[in-house]
Formats: sequence, structure tokens, C-alpha cells
Amino acid sequence: MKKVVYMDAAASWLKPQSVIESEVDFLTNNYANAGRGICERAGKVDDLIAESRVKIANFIGADSTNIVWTYGTTDSMNRIVDIVTKTLPNKHPTIVVSDLDHHSSRLPWEMYAKDNNCKIITMPLDENFNIDTKTIPDGDIYVITAMSNVMGAAQDVSSIIGVIRSKNKQAITIVDAAQYVVHAKIDVKKFDCDFLAFSGHKIGADTGVGVMYIKNPDYWNVDKFGGGMVNKIIDKENIILNKSPEKYEAGTLPLTQIIGLSKAIEYLSNWNGGNDLISFMYDELSKIKNIKLVTSKDSSLITFVVKNMHVLDFGALIGMQNICIRVGNMCATWIHKKLNIDGSIRISVGPWNTMDDAKYVIEKIKKIVE
Ligand SMILES: Cc1ncc(COP(=O)(O)O)c(C=O)c1O
Repeated sequence: MKKVVYMDAAASWLKPQSVIESEVDFLTNNYANAGRGICERAGKVDDLIAESRVKIANFIGADSTNIVWTYGTTDSMNRIVDIVTKTLPNKHPTIVVSDLDHHSSRLPWEMYAKDNNCKIITMPLDENFNIDTKTIPDGDIYVITAMSNVMGAAQDVSSIIGVIRSKNKQAITIVDAAQYVVHAKIDVKKFDCDFLAFSGHKIGADTGVGVMYIKNPDYWNVDKFGGGMVNKIIDKENIILNKSPEKYEAGTLPLTQIIGLSKAIEYLSNWNGGNDLISFMYDELSKIKNIKLVTSKDSSLITFVVKNMHVLDFGALIGMQNICIRVGNMCATWIHKKLNIDGSIRISVGPWNTMDDAKYVIEKIKKIVE
């Protein structure tokens, strides 16, 4: 069998055995819906979902009532726009974004702004492409990408939000932690953010599950209606919703994925982050004449371009070697515009990668580039 090297962890992780086993066990032996039944088996599922929620809450320093299950970061980010704009009296807020943003966290706001005639302002970046805390503009709603999927650097979220709060106590702060969660510790109380989101599949859980943290879940209007979120319907005017977080969870949850996510968190907590591999590969790539590195050595990933070679040509050639790395704009158009390039090549590692993989990939890249 041909050797396959998967170095695209930032797109999606390969799955740890413990995640797979927990999902197979649930599907084989314990499956039932959650929040719907009163038999012992259904009760056990409720317990498993509750346990997973507590585990995620502890992992990010929250209470379990602040943790809402979603289908991923994109789903969370789109929902946050609806939740916030349904509640805030000001329908024309000034929205502040940054060029580090992924399409999923910024586009929903760009679309809202277009339809509702709102101003969008971009936070300046400093010379290292980090959000510059000295020049944060005034605004009502802030989207903060805690770690760009192209630059791989952890932003100083607490300081950024500290500056925002010093300008406007009522500002709404939304943190995209899809990449940050893999490499840095989230502490939502320290961050003091209003919302935070990440996906399960980027930390070893299955696709189809995400987390949306809401600081004040009782304050906001819900964006979705359906089963599982209603306490009582008295009449047309009097519909009583469940308390948080259930009020945000209309419809059947991705149960299997939630159970797997709990195991993924345990697994992630025991991983060293792959810095040794990134550091080795960074040094090797920096010796290759035609390679221009975009990231710095302490980044959690490596992004680069090859002089006089289109990234898609490079992608095709490296792909033929069964090496899985990401090429293109990575759903992060704005940072590429800022860097003045159409696209880039990204290497990101996970716990399954070894130093042998790293040497093998470098050897193949050298062959293509030189
Ligand atoms: C920084 C960032 N935000 C958001 C997303 C979207 O995540 P998902 O596709 O899991 O919804 C990604 C995925 O690449 C990302 O890297």
C-alpha cells in the first residue's frame, strides 16, 4: 500500500480510536434520542449528553448552561448573527472585523450589514499580522479570530476584549476559536467574550458537532424553533421556552458526535501540539531557495508560497505523492489580499504525524521545488 501522509490537521483531524470506539459503542449498544424518552435507555443517553456538556464547559472555563450544541463553527457563527440581531434594539450596529477572519465568521456579518445598511470596519493588524490592540476602532459588535487558519498565531484575546470594553461596555464580542482551541487554552471568563465558537471535527471528534458558548444565555432571543426547546404552549401568545441551554437546541441533536466530542477533548488534552515537527520543517523549508515562508517559526502551522509556481500546480504535484496538505485561499480571502497573494500552501500536523513523516514531506517538497 502507498504511504499516505496526512498533514492537513487544520482542515480536519483524523479520528482517535477512543472517539471511534465511543461512537460505535453508543450506536451499537445504547442508542436512543435525548430529551425525549423516559425509559432507562433514554435516560442514559440524557446522562451521556449532560456529561459531555460538563466536560466541554470545564474545558473552556464555563458553566454547562453556557454551552450550546451546534453543527460546527460556521453554524454557530451564522446563528450568532441571528441571535444578536433579533435581540439588539439597534438594527444598524457598527460591526468590527479583521483580515484574519475566516469566511464563516465574517461573511454572515458582511451579509447582514449589506441588507441592513450597517458600517463594517476592519481592525488594523500590526507588523506581525496580529490584531493591533493600540488601534482598535470604535464599534458595537466585534468579530475576533483568536487564531487565523493561515497565520496560526494565537491572538491576545483577553487584551483585545479588554480594550474593546474600555471603549464600549455594551459592545458584543464574538470569538472564532476554531483553530485556537487546538493549540491554546480557552478561558471564557478571562476572555470575557459574549460568544465563542469551535468545531468538533478539528479536534478529533466527528463532523456535524460544534460548540457555541453564550455568556448570558437568558438575555438573548432564540433563533430557531422546534422540538426539545419548548416547556409549555398555553396559547398563541403564551409559549414558554425551556431554560438555557435547551432553549437554543431545537430539534434532535447530533448525539453520536457529542458523545465522541467528549472523548476527543480527553485526547486533545494529552497532545503536545506538534511544535517539534513544525519547528523542524520550518527550518528545513527556510533553507529552500524558492520557498517564501508566510508564517513565523513559533506559529502552530506553516504557510508558504513557491516562487514562480502556482499553488494549485504545487498542490497537484504534492498530492500525486499522497501527501495531504492544503493549498488555495483556505476560506480566508482577506488575509491573502493583505499578503498580496492569491493563495498559499499550508502544512498542519496532528498527533498521528511523526518525525519520519516530516522528513519524508520535506524530501518530496524539495524534489518539486528545486
Ligand atoms: C478559523 C476558522 N474559523 C472557522 C472555520 C469553519 O469551521 P467549520 O467548517 O468546521 O464550520 C474554520 C475552518 O477551517 C477555521 O479555520
